[in-house]
Amino acid sequence: MEMIKIIRIALANQKGGVGKTTTSLCLANELKSRGFNVLFIDTDAQCNSTKFFEAKTQGVATILDIFCGDEPAINCIQHTSKGDIIASDKLLSDAENMVKVDERRFRHLKRSLKSIEGKYDFVVIDTPPAIGVALKNVLATVDYVIIPVEESGWALDGLMDFAEAIELARENNENLKIMGILTVKSKERTRKSKRISELAETLAEKLKTKCFQTKIRESVACTEALTEYYVPLNEYAPESSTAQDYKNFTDEMLGEISNG
Ligand SMILES: Nc1ncnc2c1ncn2[C@@H]1O[C@H](COP(=O)(O)OP(=O)(O)O)[C@@H](O)[C@H]1O
Ligand SMILES: [Mg+2]
Repeated sequence: MEMIKIIRIALANQKGGVGKTTTSLCLANELKSRGFNVLFIDTDAQCNSTKFFEAKTQGVATILDIFCGDEPAINCIQHTSKGDIIASDKLLSDAENMVKVDERRFRHLKRSLKSIEGKYDFVVIDTPPAIGVALKNVLATVDYVIIPVEESGWALDGLMDFAEAIELARENNENLKIMGILTVKSKERTRKSKRISELAETLAEKLKTKCFQTKIRESVACTEALTEYYVPLNEYAPESSTAQDYKNFTDEMLGEISNG
């Protein structure tokens, strides 16, 4: 039987607080709701998505064991009521010093994922807000990067540096594609919102990508669901604007993948 290749997607942006964790959790849940088999990987030392999954970080193998011990991914998966996850670890904040400086430095994650080939449809990866060894491992691994940008003043600053990191990652991962820029925490019809949309379009052109048509609206339910009650947004408030937007975004994303 032919093994279908796992589609690996990272939500990444070198800035913090721009919706990487929210988007990765909502995307993973949407994909699960549609019957796909999804593995979530947390590569951020802040462990926010690990907390959402209520996954362990002690006495289990985590992303740290992949980066520092070449542990096969299959040995690091925790099966939780919210799905399968490879947890992060707060010690990962010292990754720059902990991960050996050798030719494998940025390839640990990619090697490790060979152990799950054929076992999932999607791997969704949450990433840290810095271009360091963890993010470089992710960029060397994934097929697609989606860049969430916040609808606020300096949302797009620094993204050219990020684009450079992606360009460098392509030397080892030639299929790496920026699938698009996703506007999050959107407040409709404000003047700022219009200006950010225009800037995002310009940036997308520079990065040779596009902006997703769906914009993710801001809602109280979104923060409540994910950071207070630890319940997937599409269960906690399926009718909320944000849940609807993530549904549409997932449709758009799946369309993008099937178009190659
Ligand atoms: N659509 C949204 N509506 C309301 N709050 C949001 C929305 N998206 C993200 N947030 C909030 O913004 C903050 C930063 O989002 P987060 O996903 O943690 O960003 P990052 O992972 O990039 O640091 C969090 O408190 C999160 O709950
Ligand atoms: Mg985060």
